[in-house]
Amino acid sequence: MLNQEQVRQFQDKGYVVLADLFSTDSMQALQDEAATIVDEFDANSTRAVFSTQDQSKSRDDYFLSSGDKIRCFFEEDAFASNGQLKQHKALSINKIGHALHTLNPVFRDFSHSATISQLARDLGLLRPQIHQSMYIFKQPKIGGVIRWHQDASYFYTDPITVLTFWFALEDATIENGCIQIDDSGQTYPLKEQFKRYQDDSTELVQLDTRPWPADEQALPLEVKRGTLIVFNGLLPHFSAPNLSHKSRHAFTLHMTCASSVYARENWLQAKPSPL
Ligand code: FE2
Repeated sequence: MLNQEQVRQFQDKGYVVLADLFSTDSMQALQDEAATIVDEFDANSTRAVFSTQDQSKSRDDYFLSSGDKIRCFFEEDAFASNGQLKQHKALSINKIGHALHTLNPVFRDFSHSATISQLARDLGLLRPQIHQSMYIFKQPKIGGVIRWHQDASYFYTDPITVLTFWFALEDATIENGCIQIDDSGQTYPLKEQFKRYQDDSTELVQLDTRPWPADEQALPLEVKRGTLIVFNGLLPHFSAPNLSHKSRHAFTLHMTCASSVYARENWLQAKPSPL
């Protein structure tokens, strides 16, 4: 599936960009399905969870119990001070997570396709298994910032094997908050580990004090609809807020190799789905 140059780029830089891998129709099918999920979502059912700052406990519970469910999460800035949505529900959702790949037939078929399975193997996962799926909206005007991080902080395995598959369902540009990466080719140590303890408290543990790259040094990956970006768990990346009028829909999968040991402290403990 991948040529030698693409595999080498992945090994050297920690990421690979596969332009125009998917058709417009296949991207549209995922967008249509996400729109249906949002349409059927009762915004009032979880509004209280998100509408005030002091309800972080119920907000955490909503998140921490979502590993084997399909749940909608609001944007931070979706609500006015009176608790009402500032814009239509469909323009207020930050993401849908985290088990679209097992519970929704459209996303399940896409996620388990022969193309994705082969790519995972080409990129070094001998026994790929999917842990998490997310549909990310990056809404116009309110799509929030995602700070610098490494995905292995959230999918820690020994050895580190997590791969992120990032599918551009719409054109991603600097203006609408495309993903930005460290392109230096340096291997960063794992800087943080997000741990979930027995009592469901969580902690972002600092493992290494090396600073994140400067924002100005990041490489923005401006990609067209239908492009797939794959990157490894140590690649630092972030995305700026979407201040534009255009959304930036993306679908993501996080997978590891079943031969690596998945940490008990990872927040997501749902049974992985073999590819
Ligand atoms: Fe990430």
